[in-house]
Amino acid sequence: MKKVTFAALILCAALIIGVTTLGCAAAFKRQNTVVGIIGAMDIEVEGLKSALKNPRAKTVTGIEFVGGTIGGVNVVIAKCGIGKVQAAMCAAIMIGEFNAKKIINTGVAGAVYSELLIGDVVVSSDTCQYDIEHTATGEPLGKLPDIDTVYFPADKTLIRLAEDAGKSVLKNNKLYVGTIATGDRFVADKETKKFIRDNFGGYAAEMEGGAIGAVCYLNKIPYVVIRAVSDNADETAGGEYEFSAESAAQNSIAIVKEMLKNLRQL
Ligand code: ADE
Repeated sequence: MKKVTFAALILCAALIIGVTTLGCAAAFKRQNTVVGIIGAMDIEVEGLKSALKNPRAKTVTGIEFVGGTIGGVNVVIAKCGIGKVQAAMCAAIMIGEFNAKKIINTGVAGAVYSELLIGDVVVSSDTCQYDIEHTATGEPLGKLPDIDTVYFPADKTLIRLAEDAGKSVLKNNKLYVGTIATGDRFVADKETKKFIRDNFGGYAAEMEGGAIGAVCYLNKIPYVVIRAVSDNADETAGGEYEFSAESAAQNSIAIVKEMLKNLRQL
């Protein structure tokens, strides 16, 4: 009798877990406008996750996706991890599994454009992958044979929303719209910085935006990257980053929160 009761309990628990998990995925699927928000590190998304109403989480391929609402907008937020593979995987899952119809990538970056100061924000006019090199077969620098462009244009409406948000929330920093250049490398030397500026016109260097841009481009999903400067991407970058990344990340987060307020009205 005891054994039967125990087995019944286990069965019930399994059913409850199963139904909850499926219900969670179905709830994501039902929403018509889901905004996906991706950051590489906890400091880039915690301030957004803590603002979520009715949060519910699901882990796919080791990345935790947390859905809910912020200011009445359906969002799904994920910390993808550092680098292009993690970022591309996360964006593809957000689109395919969580029904994201727009994607915002938020976080920090190294300054490439000389006018940028720590805490300033670069909003992507477009993104590129400065570490792609297939020139031996005649491809331009930064272009792979099976993708028809070097630059992935960001969505004009999302850019405008980010600019408007910047005007409201940035107190001591400026906002620029420019190319965000991505590669699997923490840029910490003048030569690489010059390479990115001269060859790609990059304003800021980071490690995820261009991969997210590529996934969005291939899937026709509007996207934008918002990055606050944490360092100068030169020999001083390591120390500057340690010192400034957490506070710089708050500028991007503040802009995303403000954007969501206005996204609701679209
Ligand atoms: N993210 C923040 N600073 C960076 C840098 N210097 N290079 C690449 N990614 C970064």
